[in-house]
Amino acid sequence: MKIQKSLIFLFFFVISCTKNDIPTCDDDMTLFSLADFPIGVAVSPFELEENSAYRQIVVEQFNSITPGSTFKPDALQPNENDFSFEVADSLVAFANQNGKWIHGHTLLWHNQLPSWMNSFSGDKQQWIDMMETHIKMVVSHFGNQVESWDVINEAFEDNGDFRENIWYQNIGKEYLKLAFEFAHEANPNTLLFYNDYSIAAKAKKCEAILNHFKTLKNEGIPVHGIDLQLHIYNSTPSDNSIKNAVEAIADEGFLIHFSEIDISLNLVTDNMRLTDNKLQKQGQRMQFLVDVFQTIPQSQQHGITIWGISDLDSWIPSFFGREDYPLMYDNEYHPKPMYCGFREGLLN
Ligand code: XIL
Repeated sequence: MKIQKSLIFLFFFVISCTKNDIPTCDDDMTLFSLADFPIGVAVSPFELEENSAYRQIVVEQFNSITPGSTFKPDALQPNENDFSFEVADSLVAFANQNGKWIHGHTLLWHNQLPSWMNSFSGDKQQWIDMMETHIKMVVSHFGNQVESWDVINEAFEDNGDFRENIWYQNIGKEYLKLAFEFAHEANPNTLLFYNDYSIAAKAKKCEAILNHFKTLKNEGIPVHGIDLQLHIYNSTPSDNSIKNAVEAIADEGFLIHFSEIDISLNLVTDNMRLTDNKLQKQGQRMQFLVDVFQTIPQSQQHGITIWGISDLDSWIPSFFGREDYPLMYDNEYHPKPMYCGFREGLLN
């Protein structure tokens, strides 16, 4: 009888140890209470209003929010010189009521532009004036309620070339410098960032971005930080590529923000099998990101932001047309191992 009991105990011990070495996350500590840098999440004002499980997680776990789409040009200036701040202001009110920082996203991009902006016609000076009006109206409207801004999103190609977006085509590469200057003139207190994807995956892209903004910084242009979006997979890019990119940016003295984390599990665009193993790996990958972030000198740690709450809210399945589970909470808003990995990284 005694032997049988020990065998049963041994069986459960082996099972529980091999299954995962990630903690069960069942105490009351929440993410931001464990961190000494901002812990952010991309939010939608609609979900915050309508979905109580979603709202509760935002309030309890995070102390910074990035509006997922609410601050983009199509939302804020739907018609020329006709700004629409109502929904954005409700998000700012939510942040103020709940003591959250706001990372503004994004003043310029090539997507989610209003159609009038895409088809704007004018000479170079008129394009600069139009860009200046947008940036200054938006930045000054929010003032110090927005602590930091993505001034420009995704201005480089993966091979390091400038992306030929409407700004580049009509103003030339000096639009980057001008955009930062306009934002700074509108509010000298706000921290200004450049945001892009695949900075860790594509060495040429990382180098081009770093060279460009290093040069601007040396000229006295107020570029304070670089955001790595980090839309990554369990297996790519490699841990070393991520470490190297982060180190190279940190060495140049920029603030660093991991600005849009999601960790995809579906490498190919077809039906996938969701296994416990993949979820555990996703947890370890998240923990790795938090570990790497904490190798950055503390004064340069701007924060870590996850691009959404539950797998249900992720942009990945609809944007790429594939099944995926890239976020920290499952469709029922229960924490996944990825959430535990985040905590474990903070606890270390
Ligand atoms: C995504 C939003 O999450 C979606 O809701 C929207 O439909 C499309 O844009 N890189 C960015 C973000 O910088 O703005 C994108 O956000 C995701 C990719």
